Amino acid sequence: MTQGFSREPGTEGPVSGVSSAGARKVHVWALVIALGGFLFGYDTGVVSGALLYIKKDFHLTSLEQSSIVSVLLIGAMLGALGAGRLADRLGRRRTLAIEGLVFIVGTAILVFAAGYAMLLVGRIVLGLAVGAASATVPVYLSEVSPTELRGRFLTLNQLMITIGILISYLVNLAFAGSGLWRGMFAVGAIPALLMVAGTMFLLPESPQWLILRGRADKARQVIESVSTKERADHLIELAQQRRTQRDKEEASRKRNWRILLEPRVRPALIVGLTLAAAQQFSGINTIIYYAPTLMQKTGLSASNSIFYSVAIGVINLIMTIVAIKLVDRVGRRPLLLSSLAGMLVMLVLLGFSYVAGMSSALSLVFMVVYIASFAVGLGPVFWVLVGELFPSSARAAGSGASTAVNWASNFVVSLVFLPLADVIGQGEIFWVFAAVCAFTLWFVGRYVPETREREFNEVDAALRARFGRQAQQAAASG
Ligand code: GLC
Repeated sequence: MTQGFSREPGTEGPVSGVSSAGARKVHVWALVIALGGFLFGYDTGVVSGALLYIKKDFHLTSLEQSSIVSVLLIGAMLGALGAGRLADRLGRRRTLAIEGLVFIVGTAILVFAAGYAMLLVGRIVLGLAVGAASATVPVYLSEVSPTELRGRFLTLNQLMITIGILISYLVNLAFAGSGLWRGMFAVGAIPALLMVAGTMFLLPESPQWLILRGRADKARQVIESVSTKERADHLIELAQQRRTQRDKEEASRKRNWRILLEPRVRPALIVGLTLAAAQQFSGINTIIYYAPTLMQKTGLSASNSIFYSVAIGVINLIMTIVAIKLVDRVGRRPLLLSSLAGMLVMLVLLGFSYVAGMSSALSLVFMVVYIASFAVGLGPVFWVLVGELFPSSARAAGSGASTAVNWASNFVVSLVFLPLADVIGQGEIFWVFAAVCAFTLWFVGRYVPETREREFNEVDAALRARFGRQAQQAAASG
């Protein structure tokens, strides 16, 4: 198994083993890769405002409107499923460049859409790109990060997602006067172009993927470009020693999904898939996607409701920045646990505020604290773990599967939220989300290991320890 490329036992410091010029370079790489996260946020957020004008132009029914929102989520699920294989075959770099091109194609279809059908096609194509990028970005980020900065780099993904969401709200506001919905979509082409150009001209291939493919010389060049020659030699040698026969066989296998059925990958897969579903079934996107609707239900006017949803976007962003500061210092587990506890309490209170018909100001406070709790833990840490849970030969496939489940759960929650609220009641729905948080709190306490400052093989061992003897035996025989 290969390891994070800058750390050697006994070395200390924020970016040990990477020169300061090297550190700058690695930061630029991370930024370019995380543009994929920005587009994820932008393209999922922009539709809420655009829809108000699209429905007028094309006289859409409410079912047609919600289809335009939700087909993106289906596309994203498919994109995530396909991305793993692509990233293993073509490499992380080429895959990201292709995803950037698909973002541009999807955006172009929307901008020039002549009717409802074309809008649907555009949203599906965009969804493929969003989903594929959301599966590739954590893998790529994790593989170019120095171990000590891996958490910070991986949270950069979530930071860019939240910035993307916020910018899309602001672009919506800017175009709202003129009603130019095509312009709202068109702005998304700018980061997509930057991503394609940046990937082609600035990014190296992932050294871990190169080593897995038996191209150690190339991997050495990449590491040397941010570190010294001696260090690169040393790390490549270490990485190759750790690369087991099984890794080699797995890397050369064509059907990469089968790797996920290997017993030794099972603990990582269980954690990845459970957190993927839990992140969505804890209800986050009912607030992100429907905040104005929810505010209106507590008695606020439409314009105030929209104003407060921008406030929610800002809180989401600010608390994600806090998470970035904390993730490599206090670790992933404390953030996850306190985040889930905060969300749980707020959801219970939010439920009461609707059931008992409390004031809208109080509901708003609960909602804001709920978002803040999510943003400091479950939001970013899920995407961090997607990048660091899986052994390298199963990383792209594992990330693809977890990401696909995340999108599928997102789709289900978005689809049933409003109708179900009508049946069982708005407050009661929040209690269902609270129950999901309670279960996840238990699950994280029991099964999710700390991954901070751990090399990938150490993460593997920690996971197996948490899953007990059964998993260890499976690993020994599998
Ligand atoms: C996470 C979730 C995503 C959500 C976002 C909100 O990235 O995966 O579905 O929209 O957080 O900040």
